[in-house]
Amino acid sequence: MLVAAMPTDGFPLRPRCAGGEKPLVIAHRGASGYLPEHTLAAYAVAIFQGADFIEPDLVMTKDGHLIARHENVLDLTTDVASHPEFAGRRTTKGVDGVAVTGWFSEDFTLAEIKQLRAIERMPGVRPANTRFDRQFEVPTLQEIIDLVQACERALGRKIGLYPETKHPTYFQRLGLSMEEPLVRILHRNGYQGADGRVFIQSFEVGHLRKLRRMTRIPLVQLLGVGGKPYDVEAAGGSLTYDQMATPGGLADIAAYADGVGPEKSHFILAPDAEGKLDPGNATDFVANAHAAGLQVHPYTFRAENRFLPVSLRSSGEPHALGDSEAEIKAFLALGIDGFFTDQADLGVRARDAFVAGK
Ligand code: G3P
Ligand code: CA
Repeated sequence: MLVAAMPTDGFPLRPRCAGGEKPLVIAHRGASGYLPEHTLAAYAVAIFQGADFIEPDLVMTKDGHLIARHENVLDLTTDVASHPEFAGRRTTKGVDGVAVTGWFSEDFTLAEIKQLRAIERMPGVRPANTRFDRQFEVPTLQEIIDLVQACERALGRKIGLYPETKHPTYFQRLGLSMEEPLVRILHRNGYQGADGRVFIQSFEVGHLRKLRRMTRIPLVQLLGVGGKPYDVEAAGGSLTYDQMATPGGLADIAAYADGVGPEKSHFILAPDAEGKLDPGNATDFVANAHAAGLQVHPYTFRAENRFLPVSLRSSGEPHALGDSEAEIKAFLALGIDGFFTDQADLGVRARDAFVAGK
């Protein structure tokens, strides 16, 4: 039965840190542990698993549409290589300083993108997901919003949207600036401000600063392992991710963003030599970010053995599932405000058990 009116209370989101709120479960690329990533089906499954937010990564088409892909090269997650009509578009380009050969989103119109079908990125790790290969389209941001809002009406709860802009400097140089279409679509669909229903995330600093001037929507600065944000690199700047993670760096981030999305092991807690998560080895990153007024949403929790600390792996194949919930709880105990996971069902179970004191 459709629920006509959505509750206005009980939504556990705030634009900034707020004690007592439930940590957020963010479905990384949708339910990407179970279906090909960044498809409407993957987002819908994550929503029905109870995710608080779904995460679309976004790139641009030739005709200026925002579509959900983790990178602009298409052959890792679509069947573009099996389309003879597009064979001549395979080429080599420099993307964020790296030479990449393949088919690129910016060389395709949306109508052409819609001829492609999604495939599983990691068929060796997630062989079961390949049964869905070539079943689903590449969705636009607008289609994802339509899905979210339809599910909100059907389920009677609010569902957050957590878009990440990929390669904004690269697309800017192609005349395909991402900020304007992103803000226009979000505002047009009712995502106007800091009501807790959307965060915009990016690794690039200048891009987030530009967005800060365009919208009140909360922003999240992602922190990668090693090196610099690409826009800093391209401008000849010296600011590294590790510098951004210091108390001074976090205070600078707080001038334009509301949260940080750090890689979990590098910035917060790495397994020890025996592959165990010892809370005594945690950094002071979470406390420092909170002191700066920033939420902390680390990435990415993945349940397959190969992605887990050795001590949490199950016996069996590298793609068998281990104890992801124990890993998530270890980070929740360190005070994180939310987390990205490929298995939202396990994330919700771990979060709810943690909040219940189990
Ligand atoms: O956005 C958080 C996390 O998703 C960043 O890494 O490469 O999976 O987009 P990536
Ligand atoms: Ca992402």
